[in-house]
Amino acid sequence: MHVLFTPRFPLDVVAKPRSDIPEYAYCAYQAAKGRYMQHVPLAAYHNQADIEDWHENIAWLLAAHDAGLDVHILDRITPLPERAQDIKPLISLSRPFDPNRPFALFGPQPLRARLTTSAIDGQSWPSPAGAAAANRYASNPAFQRHAGRQVQLCDVEGTGLNGKVVHSGQPSEITHALENWAAAGPVDALIKNVFQPKYGPLYPVELPAGAHPVACKQAVYDALSYDLLDLEGRTQALLLQGRIEMRDEYRIFVIGGRVVTGAGCIERHTPWDRIPGETFDPQMENLRGSGGIRVDRARAKLYRQFAERIVPELMAEDPELRDFSLDLAVNADGAPLIIELNPVATSGLYACRIEKLVGAIRDQHAYNRIAAA
Ligand SMILES: Nc1ncnc2c1ncn2[C@@H]1O[C@H](COP(=O)(O)OP(=O)(O)OP(=O)(O)O)[C@@H](O)[C@H]1O
Ligand SMILES: [Mg+2]
Repeated sequence: MHVLFTPRFPLDVVAKPRSDIPEYAYCAYQAAKGRYMQHVPLAAYHNQADIEDWHENIAWLLAAHDAGLDVHILDRITPLPERAQDIKPLISLSRPFDPNRPFALFGPQPLRARLTTSAIDGQSWPSPAGAAAANRYASNPAFQRHAGRQVQLCDVEGTGLNGKVVHSGQPSEITHALENWAAAGPVDALIKNVFQPKYGPLYPVELPAGAHPVACKQAVYDALSYDLLDLEGRTQALLLQGRIEMRDEYRIFVIGGRVVTGAGCIERHTPWDRIPGETFDPQMENLRGSGGIRVDRARAKLYRQFAERIVPELMAEDPELRDFSLDLAVNADGAPLIIELNPVATSGLYACRIEKLVGAIRDQHAYNRIAAA
């Protein structure tokens, strides 16, 4: 398997480590920077990248090389051609590029989509069908069972650009769902746009118990505002969810149904911040973004065991689900729950054990090819 690697920054950009980190992490950052500069020898470098973004991107590159895969660095901006024969890597780390061999795409994805959906799909990683399955997690009954909060997948009334019409009056329509929720008590909810991944922040909605239908409709207009123009007439586009306390957010990577590695959702962490020796990094941040980081091995173990229990359930409900990141948290009582699922290729790594992740992608791919032969 080849790896086609997209750099996130121009090749002459490097990022030095932060100075306020433990020595083992500082050494890991320095080592990554040094190895990158060996592979990509240039006359001058500029320390000007976002530290986490640069190192996370380079972690994919180095892990692929360490896993024995042939890595090819692509031009950062030019969209990939539709045919593999037309790919011209800038730098090949080991062997020359062979368009007839299967490949994986590591690095930022948007411009790369065309190639993976072309004729060679089925040979390439990530699989577009698998990514689509991760993105439709909100409709997965196993997600709904383990969400740890009230969730309801909703349509948006109206005639959309896609010509579909959703009629007002259906219980699944967002304003009617809110009416029903308000009929049962006060509403403190977050609405997530699940029609398009990474659309934007969740929309908060609060309503008193027994809110009038007009107030519910107004609340939807106020919350979604101009985004409604995109959403009108779309079915299953919004995930209405009760707001709850979520603590110690944690990301687990699943490849081919195997729970491979994991780490706390700590924005300033990359694989180089992993506590040496750990595959499920035990560093936790009580509230996301708060900065209070502690080591909690029992919590990491709880998440791993929870993931091992629920992954087969999630996959049984959606046979196209294969590789995904699984975001978990605990509620106020310390019970684990699912926040969301994402495709692996577009998931931040945090302090996961990247070697395990890339090794699992390589091995799973080899296994699939043997099984298909
Ligand atoms: N029902 C909820 N109650 C309270 N907080 C929530 C709820 N759902 C999500 N959150 C918080 O909002 C964050 C973002 O939610 P989610 O991960 O579903 O959306 P996202 O689009 O992937 O955003 P991000 O890219 O920031 O993770 C979560 O990490 C969590 O902190
Ligand atoms: Mg998220």
